[in-house]
Amino acid sequence: MGITSQVKHLPSEPAIRMFLRARGLEASGREVVHLEIGEPDFATPEHISVAAKKALDAGQTHYCDSQGVLELREAIADKVSRVRDVTVDSADVVVTPGLRPILFYGALMALDKGDEGIYFDPAFAAFPSVITFAGARAVPVPLRGENGFKLDLEALEAAITPRTRLLTLNWPHNPTGAVLDDSDFEAIADLAVGHDLMVLADETYEEIYYGAKPRSVIEFPRLRDRSIVMSGFSKTYRMTGWRLGYAILPPSLVDAFTRLIANSVSCSNTFVQYAAVDALRGPQDSIAEMVEEFRARRDTLVDGLNDIPGLTCHMPEGAFYAFPNVTGLGMDDTELADRLLEEAGVATLAGSVFGEQGRGYLRLAYTTSRENVLKALDRISNFVKGL
Ligand SMILES: Cc1ncc(COP(=O)(O)O)c(C=O)c1O
Repeated sequence: MGITSQVKHLPSEPAIRMFLRARGLEASGREVVHLEIGEPDFATPEHISVAAKKALDAGQTHYCDSQGVLELREAIADKVSRVRDVTVDSADVVVTPGLRPILFYGALMALDKGDEGIYFDPAFAAFPSVITFAGARAVPVPLRGENGFKLDLEALEAAITPRTRLLTLNWPHNPTGAVLDDSDFEAIADLAVGHDLMVLADETYEEIYYGAKPRSVIEFPRLRDRSIVMSGFSKTYRMTGWRLGYAILPPSLVDAFTRLIANSVSCSNTFVQYAAVDALRGPQDSIAEMVEEFRARRDTLVDGLNDIPGLTCHMPEGAFYAFPNVTGLGMDDTELADRLLEEAGVATLAGSVFGEQGRGYLRLAYTTSRENVLKALDRISNFVKGL
């Protein structure tokens, strides 16, 4: 019995693969510092869990509107309108089980067989994978380490062809922590309008930043009109396992997008959506507290990496990943990640799993305690000394 080549070529998630390998070592008695998984290590704030329990007790255990329950769509519209100083109507908000389905649905809506979709390399692996799954050609635009992984507009323009239909964006950026500035957004808008592209803007790390607040695609009217702008609860509210995200779409796309939800998952968890109303309308201090802790870990990790001969690491401006260049060690990044796990007990991800431009880098998620960050630095430093 065979399966289609479309499904055969869907990759598995590299972070989960590494996590399972690390778990295997732990099962055999080894101790591992986990820097491979991109999820906040903090518990979901208690008031959100309390709200979920209340919703369960109130019987919110049935199917609901595929687009999302109205109370949540209103809470999302209110928050985004307030925070971004724009007007969002709850009718243009769609709720999904996490952000990943939005990437899938967006690619399926924008791309026909033979079309082209652009992603930036290095990239969260889902971007090329959903474009290819939709039958299109995934076209990488390099973000180069020597330029601090800044957007290269000439490279972007050069990648656009008459077949290009979709432009995917993800800032603050996984895995480099880079952010865009206003002129980047305006230049992207020029290209998207000029070439009539749909834009899929993944802003899952929008609240995790260490300098000026990153702008959102939704603040740029020329982009907003042609964008599926997505964010969610996984990173901001430490709710990765709850599976909840949302997209804000141009009104003309809402019905098609909702039909994709109806035909694939029916709807998002009803009681989780009610808990998410409390996440948005309740106290927000847990976000700032979490980001301050990430900042302290980032500073410790990046400084420590730069003190290790052979490694250089730029300071990430957002998200929770350090992305050091490891070419000075003279070892391939895949081999390095393997050996750090096996010989030093530190789980990281090889930069090349994020694309060609990630080759020669490692991704380290500082989603573990400061104590563990220091332990990892110590182990990496000893490993390097022993080479
Ligand atoms: C850029 C990016 N988009 C989407 C996701 C997945 O988000 P969710 O768990 O909400 O589906 C991640 C998770 O690491 C990510 O880094």
